[in-house]
Amino acid sequence: MKTFKIAIAGGGSTYTPGIAKALMLKRDEFPVREIYLYDINDERQNRVAHITQKVVHEFDPAVKVVATTNPEEAFTGADFIFAQLRVGGNSMREQDEKIPFRNGIVGQETCGPGGMAYGMRTIGPMIELCDFAEIYAPQAWIINYSNPAAIVAEALRKTRPDARILNICDMPIGMMLRMAEILGCEKDEIEVDYFGLNHFGWFTDVYVRGESKLAELREYMSEHGLVTPEQSMDLQHSDADWIKAHRNVAAMLKLFPEYLPSSYLQYYLIPQTVVEQTDASYTRANRVMDNRERNLFDSIAHLEETGEFKEGFNVGVHGTFIVDVAMSLAFDRRERFLLIVENNGAIPNLPDDAMVEIPAYVTSRGPEPVRLEPIGLFYKGLIEQQLASEKLLVEAALEGSYQKAIQAFALNKTFPSSEVAKRVLDELIEVNKEFWPKLG
Ligand code: NAD
Ligand code: G6P
Ligand code: MN
Repeated sequence: MKTFKIAIAGGGSTYTPGIAKALMLKRDEFPVREIYLYDINDERQNRVAHITQKVVHEFDPAVKVVATTNPEEAFTGADFIFAQLRVGGNSMREQDEKIPFRNGIVGQETCGPGGMAYGMRTIGPMIELCDFAEIYAPQAWIINYSNPAAIVAEALRKTRPDARILNICDMPIGMMLRMAEILGCEKDEIEVDYFGLNHFGWFTDVYVRGESKLAELREYMSEHGLVTPEQSMDLQHSDADWIKAHRNVAAMLKLFPEYLPSSYLQYYLIPQTVVEQTDASYTRANRVMDNRERNLFDSIAHLEETGEFKEGFNVGVHGTFIVDVAMSLAFDRRERFLLIVENNGAIPNLPDDAMVEIPAYVTSRGPEPVRLEPIGLFYKGLIEQQLASEKLLVEAALEGSYQKAIQAFALNKTFPSSEVAKRVLDELIEVNKEFWPKLG
């Protein structure tokens, strides 16, 4: 039986031990021989590697876990490269969030100005990663989580059209788990229809064994959003910030009851509510640093001091989803997932070159997107505005164009005016000197 080498780029990520555990839980079907972690931060990655090795060896001591900052060593012979870079780390995420909030608008890591700032930092390193893959592992599939996934996907479509990369997001799976809990069934019994961009999409129907549950879900979600009675299936998105986001789905559905919106649409459809709900001096980045990151590094310190292993992380949908996608590619399983793919007519009334998030069947040759009906004017208008903003941002980064950057910002629905767009852009340029391409 074939065995697999998995490389994880961004090996020092808080999600690495969970992904390694998700791999081990599937090892009977998907035998992994070695896991190579690759990062630019040696110290951080070595610590994460320590606990990752412990996790893996609890299942199978024969599986090799190696941490390296050498791309040749990490990627040579890899079957899959899982990517999860956070370029600039959580300290830059904090800036992405706080600068907009100080200007009275939404500050978020992937949506609006925060997402655009993060995109400017991430495009270059993701292009570099595709180039490493081409040189050292031309056979490998890159499965990419690195955010902002929509902007990254567009940048790579444009610059590396032949790269074997699949851009994915775990949010729809998290939402489907919540829907399953509301409907009293398993997530795997659910099939969804969905369209949009990443973090900018709608469930147009939800089926359980072929029967539509849209009306039932709409009724529940108009009142409770995606806050579920037990909060037990989607642990990854269940702290106080996420509960607020799940609850805000109800407010969006009251305004627009046709389809079930992604919780990320709160940043575009009810931004005022989000700004009012947020403490601008303690944003999501602070919460993540004080919880997910600290819990993991505390458990690593405990392991280093005592040899005792406490699981300071969870596998979550993040771990299981990327492994499921890899297995569908590896074994030609033709499983249906929501993925970020080039439109090419799948949504007939959106441009062919849009990177859309839609259902696709994953075979060993890659994704086969499902063809959808034309979308309504409201959704088309929203999507085209967002798409134009994201495309301009990518062009700004690739061409080093300040003019395109300000157009991207001004066009984004999170901004009330071009004056605010310029102010926020200029502040972000200032703090991102070390990371952004120079804009002239
Ligand atoms: P983290 O800061 O804990 O880890 C990211 C790691 O990336 C760090 O160890 C850092 O040193 C490394 N890194 C940064 N630049 C790099 C480069 N150029 N080359 C190699 N490594 C580099 O972050 P996290 O909270 O664990 O999140 C990791 C990533 O996964 C983020 O981009 C996050 O947004 C993304 N994410 C995406 C989804 C999704 O749905 N697409 C879900 C969860 C997380
Ligand atoms: C969801 C989204 C990801 C995002 C993550 C943020 O899973 O799909 O794209 O990175 O949430 O979670 P955090 O706990 O870091 O705020
Ligand atoms: Mn996502």
